[in-house]
Amino acid sequence: MNLIVLSSVDSTNNYLQTLFDNNSLEEGTVVISLEQTMGRGQRGNSWQSLPGDGIYASILFLPPNFSVENQYYLNKAIACATVRYIASTVNDDVKIKWPNDILIGDKKVAGILIENSIRGNLISSVIAGIGINLNQLHFDFNYETPGTSLRIASNHRYNPELEITKLFKEIWSDYQQLLKGKYDLIAEDYQKLLYKAGAESKFVSNEDFFVGILVEVDKEGAAIIGVDGKQKRCIHPHTRMIVK
Ligand code: BTN
Repeated sequence: MNLIVLSSVDSTNNYLQTLFDNNSLEEGTVVISLEQTMGRGQRGNSWQSLPGDGIYASILFLPPNFSVENQYYLNKAIACATVRYIASTVNDDVKIKWPNDILIGDKKVAGILIENSIRGNLISSVIAGIGINLNQLHFDFNYETPGTSLRIASNHRYNPELEITKLFKEIWSDYQQLLKGKYDLIAEDYQKLLYKAGAESKFVSNEDFFVGILVEVDKEGAAIIGVDGKQKRCIHPHTRMIVK
């Protein structure tokens, strides 16, 4: 790991992208910041990033000959590795809410924002941004899923710079599996860690609410949801699972 530590930045994803655009960087370069002034979440949302409260980090991947068809396996691998890191730290029930929110119980503890650059049919580079609530005790109420942190789960305080090393180890080991083409293993792992798989849940699609059973997430990241005895293929964020 080639670690770059910042005290403050707009967004570690933006910073790493600009750095990569202007320099040749090794894969495995990681940017971590103590705070972000414009932390970005999925769907144009912001990601609360107060000083010392979390891991705000981005990792550069340069997978050789990696087809766009398989891009979702990297999302799955990073989500599984993040779960493993958190579960080993707080010893709690940690799951992936489709597509890649990480929950402790029913509350969101981490989010992942993956930005791919594509050349032809191949992924040329990937910037994977990961936000983990470490020490945060209070959360904005406007998040779709209520928040929690490792500190709330364990009563300990965490040092982001120490924790990123442990998280990176997990992610790098899953990434090696991916490079070896172990797609089935990654898919199996993801399925095992999938929140509410096989159980009835509430979903929202274009403002319409419905109840269904999440069966699995396919290789393109779409959820297969059983509704009234039929299987629907649903795309995020068009369709979202409701936790509350
Ligand atoms: C989500 O909405 O669930 C994704 C959140 C991703 C947040 C991380 S924090 C580090 C990286 N830099 C950003 O601006 N966002 C990601």
